[in-house]
Amino acid sequence: MRMYDIIDKKKRGGALTKEEIEFFVKGYVDGSIPDYQASALMMAIWYKGMDKRETADLTLAMAHSGDMIDLSEIPGVKVDKHSTGGIGDKTTLIIGPILASLGAKVVKMSGRGLGATGGTIDKLDSIPGFSSERTDEDFIRQVIEIGVVDAAQSGNLVPADKKMYALRDVTATVDSIPLIASSIMSKKLASGADVIVLDVKCGTGAFMQDYESAKSLAEAMTEIGEMCGRKVYAFITDMNEPLGRAVGNSVEVLEAVEVLRGQGEERLTKLCIELSKCLLIMSDVMGCGDYNDENLRKKAEEMIRETIASGKALEKFREFVRAQGGDDSFVDDPLVLKQPLYSRDIAAPKDGYLTRCNASEVGNVSCILGAGRITKEDKIDSSAGIRVYKKLGDHVDTGEVMATLYTDKESILDEAEKRFLNAYEIDINKTEPGPVIL
Ligand code: URA
Repeated sequence: MRMYDIIDKKKRGGALTKEEIEFFVKGYVDGSIPDYQASALMMAIWYKGMDKRETADLTLAMAHSGDMIDLSEIPGVKVDKHSTGGIGDKTTLIIGPILASLGAKVVKMSGRGLGATGGTIDKLDSIPGFSSERTDEDFIRQVIEIGVVDAAQSGNLVPADKKMYALRDVTATVDSIPLIASSIMSKKLASGADVIVLDVKCGTGAFMQDYESAKSLAEAMTEIGEMCGRKVYAFITDMNEPLGRAVGNSVEVLEAVEVLRGQGEERLTKLCIELSKCLLIMSDVMGCGDYNDENLRKKAEEMIRETIASGKALEKFREFVRAQGGDDSFVDDPLVLKQPLYSRDIAAPKDGYLTRCNASEVGNVSCILGAGRITKEDKIDSSAGIRVYKKLGDHVDTGEVMATLYTDKESILDEAEKRFLNAYEIDINKTEPGPVIL
């Protein structure tokens, strides 16, 4: 078999066989297939796509390219939630403790952020002492003891994705449905959860900008999961503005605490409750039920609201932070967290309603303030980021503060302010924002 022929076949729109896909994945991981041939294939897939069978074969070949985690020591159903990447998405920090406080077993492996999209591990790293490095034994023990863990992807989990994602990132081939679906689902399959809820983002801050593409991605991923014996449910959710009111790392952790206190922003809270409901219903806590059952939904919502109102969910969050070496005193005293050297309030340039937001650009602004990485080697400033006070559909008066920027780099503030303001459109006519769950 020759890599040249595989590239040529895909370039002409042919469907690759299982053997051809396995040949590529194995050869790329062991180094016998060079980056230039792999990138040519990625681009051919970007243009010509892959059918369902090819996408499933690619996913499985990737999932088996390294370690497959065995979670069988953990009794019961293991649940996981994955988002396709958005701006201000701190749902994992909220959902994990909610579910664990109700008795579910949450097994989560998260990533670091690159570019506009933040990563949960970077957010957790802003907590003093917190460690996302877990051995397999620690990972399993923590789930058995407290019901929730969130660790950085271990060294040899899906090495094919590590190489392919890094290559796609620099060859403009990230936004391809079969490539995103196989990248995400290979990691989900290798990391062992039985029940997976996917949050497929759609809008100006997402890979999938329109509903139809988001739906195709959601369908591709649920089909792969089900073919491999996992229970998968996908939501398509709005990403036309940052989720909640904070974008960055420590600011997002603090916003997660607000939601767990029952004082969170409305749309963020709604999304967290709905994703938690789905996972709770499909877990053994509620008898591995059907999310479409109205009665179960009602019951699950009551349980979730109760665990938040009673303080149990927040207590579970503190337990989770401590279990991973973190100092949970920031929950009572946010000043324990690193503070930024500079901040700047952003004033609305005119009267009107916020009608449009380029959410990716807001993510880019957070990134240049220091909250994200432009290259993999960049260091994150945990205190950098943005707090937004105005959401789409809100009215602003000229001079009213819309947001505050935080950074240690004073020299970047003028550019950041300009780009933040350019990311929003203000109009005299009000446009109602769409629902958070599409
Ligand atoms: N997240 C992933 O893990 N992979 C992709 O390809 C896109 C988002």
